[in-house]
This record gives sequence, structure tokens and C-alpha cells, in this order.
Amino acid sequence: MLNFEYQNKVKAIFGKDTISKVADEIPNDAKVLMLYGGGSIKNNGVYEQVKTALKDFELIEFGGIEANPHYETCMKAVEVIKENNIDFLLSVGGGSVLDATKFIAAAALYNDGDPWIFLEKRGIINVEKAMPIGAVMTLPATGSEMNGNSVITRVSIQEKRAFGSDFLRPQFAILDPECVYTLPKRQIENGIVDAFVHVMEQYLTYPVNSPLQDRFAEGVLRTLIEEGPKVLKNKTDYEAAANFMWSATVALNGWISPGVPQDWSTHLIGHELTAFHGIDHARTLAIVLPGTMSIKRDNKKEKIIQYGERIWGITAGTENEKINQTIEKTIEFFESVGLKTRLPDYNVGEDTIEKIVDRFEKRNFKLGEKADIDTTQIRLILEDRL
Ligand code: NZQ
Ligand code: ZN
Repeated sequence: MLNFEYQNKVKAIFGKDTISKVADEIPNDAKVLMLYGGGSIKNNGVYEQVKTALKDFELIEFGGIEANPHYETCMKAVEVIKENNIDFLLSVGGGSVLDATKFIAAAALYNDGDPWIFLEKRGIINVEKAMPIGAVMTLPATGSEMNGNSVITRVSIQEKRAFGSDFLRPQFAILDPECVYTLPKRQIENGIVDAFVHVMEQYLTYPVNSPLQDRFAEGVLRTLIEEGPKVLKNKTDYEAAANFMWSATVALNGWISPGVPQDWSTHLIGHELTAFHGIDHARTLAIVLPGTMSIKRDNKKEKIIQYGERIWGITAGTENEKINQTIEKTIEFFESVGLKTRLPDYNVGEDTIEKIVDRFEKRNFKLGEKADIDTTQIRLILEDRL
């Protein structure tokens, strides 16, 4: 196992009828900005539940945060915070609303210029303070509710970038599985695959003798494979919705990663497909992951074979045959959930591969658990998906 440090301050409040507890988690004298998206919370009763719970609080609203949230919108929220002396941010929505809230929380306290620098110079310029955040999470997918990560799109330059800090973890996250009841099918499909690939990014690397972490990871994968289709069949199946929701949280709340290497190349390449073509985040992962598995089969050989055997029961054949079968099984699973896995399925061709390769060339850093995925390999991964 590798050395690690682990801390997670987020209080998870999970279960039916838990949204009313939001009032207990925010300081009584706080001036709250409630942030939300395009209106789903007004159609499914979540808005009313939050407003009722917070009736005694001074509350201002900021709605209209987009899926793949825009920097430009976030900066408008920063103005509202400054004009109204807000001191607590409450995100009510999916990963996009929460990611936007995290960026806003850091941007509102940043006085050294344009806060986009946190994304542009990720790892060099770090967040050193942020406003307190609470979350009512309405969509199981990103795990954003229990981590410090955020992904923001700057429309004017067609960039989608990630950054992170422990300062950005919410103080609390309310997870009511009944929120799943109103999700469009497409978002359930996305959530299953996003959570699945979060596990894969932290699991499908190289062995470091971490049997406990491996079994945590395999437990989440198996749960998604078993419970995901139940939710797709009947989204008001509470038990299935609850298991799906908690799996998505655990997939990226830091329980799988201690002591093991991490990849994240599929995500970083996928973000470019969203930046250029607006493809849903999870769908970009369903496209890229099989390519990453295929091109990085040497680096990942032992773990792909372990994953194939333990998750899909693949035991026969040479190492290469087992790896090929495992990739096929993974593709089949994504397609059975409802996600297409090839670039032409999304009308994306070779010209986009050129643009993506060009971008990574300029950024001049390598991806993957061994930091050995260069632009030649990024091209191969994407060409594998044509
Ligand atoms: O905007 P509203 O009207 O609220 O509608 C949303 C949106 O249209 C709707 N929705 C959410 N909850 C609902 C609901 N509709 C009905 N009932 C509900 N209960 O669903 C649509 C998609 O919402 P969005 O928040 O965009 O989805 P998701 O949670 O999948 O978030 C995706 C974003 O998170 C980033 C992605 O890149 C993408 O920008 N990620 C964030 C991560 C993190 N912070 O750790 C990790 C991930 O890898 C990911 O990159
Ligand atoms: Zn993701």
C-alpha cells in the first residue's frame, strides 16, 4: 500500500424525509444564498421543502445554474454575495449546482484577480479559503456532495477544467433518495456510469497490495451493476434508489483512494469532449474508458484481469484475450444502461481528436497513474473509439 493522509469533514445526512433537517445545520444568524439550477427543484417539491425548513432564515436565491456550470454564471453569483453580505451558501440540486457553489465559495473570498486561475493553474495556485457550503443533493452521480472537487466550464474559451481543495468540501450533505423519483431516465443512466467510472479511475491502475481498497471498489462496482438496472426499471423503488445514491457518494468521497494509485485520464480526456461538443459528462466517460483500458493494457494488466475475473467472471483465455473480453463486458454494461460508447455515435470525428491532442500538447503534462499518457497515447485512446 502507498502512504496516505485521510480526512473528510462532510456530515452526510441520508434517507427519506431528511431535507427538513437543513435548518439544524446552518447557523441561526447566517444570511443564506440558496443556489439552484434550471428549475427541477421547483417541479419536484424540493424547493418548497427547503424554503419551508428555512422559513426563519434570511434567505436570498440564485437560480439558473446550467448543467456543466459556467464560470460566467458563477461570477454573477459572486456579485450577489458581495452586494448582500451573504455568509452561507446552500446548494440545492445536482453536481453542477454544487460544483458551481464550490467555485463561487472560493471566488467570493479571492482578492488577487480572476479566480479562474484556480482552474488554469490547478495545483500551483491553490484555494486557501472559501465560504461555508451546505448541500441538498438531488442527483446521485458525481460524489461532489462529499468531496472537495469542482468542474467549471468557461464558455468564452470553450474550456472545461477541474480543481479541488479541502476548503471546498460541504459542511453537510443531505441525501434523500426520493429525489431519484423525478430524475429523467437519461440522468439515471448518466449517474450509474459516472459513479462506475469514478471507481475505475481509482481501481484500474496497478497492484500495490491493497486488498481492502480493491474490495471496497469491487463492492461499489457490483452494487451499481445490481442496483442500477433496478432504478432504471422503476425509479420509485426506494431501496434501489437508496443503494444507488449511496454508491455514487462512496464512489468519490475518498474511501476508495487511500493507499492506491489513481488514474483520472478518462475524465480529463472526457472533459474535452464536453468542452467541444457539449456531450453529457458520463457519456464522455463511456466513450473514453474502453480506449484507455485497451491502450494502457500493459500498465493495467493485472488489475484489468482481476476486475474481469471478480466482476464479470472472466477466467478463460490468454491474458490478452481476458483483457479483450473484459473491455467488451464493460462496453456491454454501458450500452445496457443506455450509453453509446463510440465517437461517431455522438457525431464526433477525427477533427475533434486533432483539437484535443493540440490542447494537451499546449498544456504539456502527462496523464495516468504513471504520468506516461502523452499526446501520442491520447490520440491512440481516442482513435480506438472511432
Ligand atoms: O438544472 P436543474 O433544473 O436542477 O436540472 C438538472 C439538470 O438538468 C436535473 N436534475 C437534477 N436533480 C434532479 C433533476 N431533475 C429531476 N429531478 C431531480 N432530482 O438533471 C440535470 C443534470 O444535472 P447536473 O447537476 O448537471 O448532473 P450531475 O450531477 O451529473 O453533474 C454533472 C457535472 O458534475 C461534474 C461534471 O463534469 C458535470 O459538470 N463532475 C463533478 C465531479 C465532482 N465535483 O467531484 C466529479 C465528476 O467526475 C464530474 O466531472
Ligand atoms: Zn465523473
